[in-house]
Amino acid sequence: MEVPNHKNVIESNRQAWNDSARHHQDSPDWQALLDEVTQADFSCLDDTLRGLLEQLGVDGQDVVQLGCNNGRESLSLFALGARSVIGIDQSAAFLEQARALNSRSPHHAEFIEADIHRLPAPLLARFDMALITIGVLNWMPDIGEFFRHVAATLKPGGRLVIYETHPFLEMLDPEAADPYRLATSYFRAEPFVQEQPIVYVGKVEQAAAKSYWFVHTLGAIFSAALDAGLNIAHFREYAHSNREELYDRYLDQEAQVPMCFTLVAEKTQGVV
Ligand SMILES: C[S@@+](CC[C@H](N)C(=O)[O-])C[C@H]1O[C@@H](n2cnc3c(N)ncnc32)[C@H](O)[C@@H]1O
Repeated sequence: MEVPNHKNVIESNRQAWNDSARHHQDSPDWQALLDEVTQADFSCLDDTLRGLLEQLGVDGQDVVQLGCNNGRESLSLFALGARSVIGIDQSAAFLEQARALNSRSPHHAEFIEADIHRLPAPLLARFDMALITIGVLNWMPDIGEFFRHVAATLKPGGRLVIYETHPFLEMLDPEAADPYRLATSYFRAEPFVQEQPIVYVGKVEQAAAKSYWFVHTLGAIFSAALDAGLNIAHFREYAHSNREELYDRYLDQEAQVPMCFTLVAEKTQGVV
């Protein structure tokens, strides 16, 4: 398979996510969200992420969410006491939705359009906490480079919090004739390429820009964090799913696979 260079992969992913935005806005969930964000204590975070953030303490913190999509998670951070929240995403179409939610919220986040690999200088060394949630790491063609950019947003002593899908799940194909057979290598180097719109439920049979989903092993993720000057302070794997419903078939198995993980890493004092 011929994979374009990283710059073109990132650009193609940007176009695919921009196209995806209208499919998400068509859902009844969007209408509900427009109402829900008007509440000062609005939160769409699940118990795992909320529990972890409560334990770490978000109160009074300046937080950045990288790959914030429609901003609903960014806005949820105010209910935990965040002092300021900035959401970064390279999809202008999703940021338009984020700004629509922001305008209805009693809180005021800021949403900035940027490729994480080309962050504007005012975003560097600025945050107490950087948040990454489900479905961000796998769009990154070079995980080492990605972590260096993420680390650059933090003040010394600042913390990166990740709540992501587990790379083990990439070995399984929930739509295969035998969804329990290992379908692909844990060490797969080439990305999965999708040519249809990115939607969370089902499939839309239309052409869209190609999107490139890269598999990063846990080892690659840990090494990337450490190499970027981020000391891993917490890592935990879970049996519940934070993925599309399709993956729910792997829940509650006797031989349970890991479905998601949380990781917290602290920027070494003195590294800017
Ligand atoms: C699966 S969504 C994240 C969803 C989020 N966890 C939520 O529940 O709202 C992934 C997001 O990453 C963004 N993204 C992908 N590559 C990016 C890049 N290089 N720079 C900035 N954002 C990027 C996409 O535009 C998309 O909005």
